[in-house]
Amino acid sequence: MRKPPAVILISGRGSNLQAIIDAVAHDALPLAIRAVISNRPRAAGLQHAQRANIPTRIIDHTQFPDRQHFELALQQAIDAYAPRLVILAGFSRILSPQFVAHYRGKILNIHPSLLPLFPGLDTHARALQAGVTEHGASVHIVTSDLDSGPVILQARIPVLPEDTATSLAARVLEQEHRLYSLAIRRFVEQELSKGKEYDDAGTYTQSLT
Ligand code: GRF
Repeated sequence: MRKPPAVILISGRGSNLQAIIDAVAHDALPLAIRAVISNRPRAAGLQHAQRANIPTRIIDHTQFPDRQHFELALQQAIDAYAPRLVILAGFSRILSPQFVAHYRGKILNIHPSLLPLFPGLDTHARALQAGVTEHGASVHIVTSDLDSGPVILQARIPVLPEDTATSLAARVLEQEHRLYSLAIRRFVEQELSKGKEYDDAGTYTQSLT
């Protein structure tokens, strides 16, 4: 299968990034990762990218006067790689409707809850507090409303009586690592089935037939 070009945005640890890199390396995910961009200069995930010889960029949000200027720089950095997909993997900045519109239908995110339940932060603690019997993670297409775009795939786990927010987060994270590649793969397959093609260099072209 042709490999659509992707840029991955991170802010921290990068364990989901590593899982995606591994899936690509094992031919389980048809993706050409063009670059990893972090808004935090010391994000540990940058090292995962460097070890895999993926170009990295830092667009530090603290160096810009406001969100608009930060997003403009981020957009320019992303567009230099002409990605078909922008993958948020633990990217901690909220994106403006203008930014999302620029990449409409092309930005994917992973969120640690069974959306529409628990958008936003502290999902594991809130799930425990709410007394739900199941929790999990969702991969969705990003729209301008926070954590609420169309869901591509979810992973579900039972909440155990002895669970703490930490133990629940660890078990959900294990699922996230499996889930994200599966969901990206599904998204890419759907794109291709709509007649979109990528040449060997990963450049996107619309099939004319
Ligand atoms: C994950 O729990 C993800 O669902 C959320 O942020 C966390 C990122 O973890 N959006 P990592 O940086 O991929 O390890």
